[in-house]
Amino acid sequence: MTDPANDIDDAMAHIREAVSQQLGIDRPLATADVDIASLPHFGRNLESELSAERRAELVAEAKRLDPWLQGPFWLGGDLVIGGTWRNDGRWLGFGEQIPADLSGKRVLDIGSNAGYDPFMFHLRGAQYVLGAEPFMFIEQARFLERIYETGVDFQPLGWQDLDPALHGTFDLVHCHGVLYHDMHPVALLQRLREMLAPGGTLYFGSMMLADPELSEYARYVPGAYYGDATWWWVPGRLAMRWMLESVGLEVLRQLPVHDGPPGEFATINGYFECGIGEPSPVITRVDSSTGAPPPRGAG
Ligand SMILES: C[S@@+](CC[C@H](N)C(=O)[O-])C[C@H]1O[C@@H](n2cnc3c(N)ncnc32)[C@H](O)[C@@H]1O
Repeated sequence: MTDPANDIDDAMAHIREAVSQQLGIDRPLATADVDIASLPHFGRNLESELSAERRAELVAEAKRLDPWLQGPFWLGGDLVIGGTWRNDGRWLGFGEQIPADLSGKRVLDIGSNAGYDPFMFHLRGAQYVLGAEPFMFIEQARFLERIYETGVDFQPLGWQDLDPALHGTFDLVHCHGVLYHDMHPVALLQRLREMLAPGGTLYFGSMMLADPELSEYARYVPGAYYGDATWWWVPGRLAMRWMLESVGLEVLRQLPVHDGPPGEFATINGYFECGIGEPSPVITRVDSSTGAPPPRGAG
């Protein structure tokens, strides 16, 4: 039997190596340049002062779960986990584009990482939030949830595991930063549509090709992008829209775009707001785990 704690350590060590290769830096755990007063309070009962013992305990656990990509997360007192990304900055823009009040809504976040977005949806009053994250980042989300006690349901699920019959459908589905990491981008979009409740809204965000001349194309990445070997398909903006529409997602709006990482070709990051539309009548399905078409007559 393997020790789960060692599994987490191994997984995090592997990710740590990839992150330091990409960024060439070790991120400080506590980011000095963060104004704590400006950070969201994900937990209602966070202490304004932490005892030295409690602080040391939290720091030790956060270090064990390093590297943190998402952040910053305030844990109480002067303790902030600073990630590689500034998710608070992304929410300044994105947060204005989505409903301020999610009371009574069921929200699904796919590729939750350390849980920043699910915690934000919870802060907006969502009744139930499911955070799906198949990799060891879920341990970061669960560590934070133990502190914040929000009730967000973090599950070790990939999008392939999501099933409306098991998990229900959702009023708001959020999926950001997952598509270009997937070998089966259209199958992912098909699943997102299945998880939407009637009248539901999908906020779908992805890296895309920045060059307007390449808008109709998708670029396949056989090696790595900016040192990250998990990039596969990067669509242009129009190609992305066509993919969404083909699977039966009606694009209601495109949100403002931002520059992507400074990799081998220029990228932008942008969101599409989608409702349920009609899929193409000739669309086929594959089993994304095997690449095989379904048996004749199946969906
Ligand atoms: C670029 S990160 C984006 C994280 C987060 N959504 C955000 O925008 O900050 C991609 C995330 O998707 C997760 N991921 C990778 N494969 C996945 C899959 N098959 N299903 C769901 N999430 C996946 C990764 O572990 C990672 O946390």
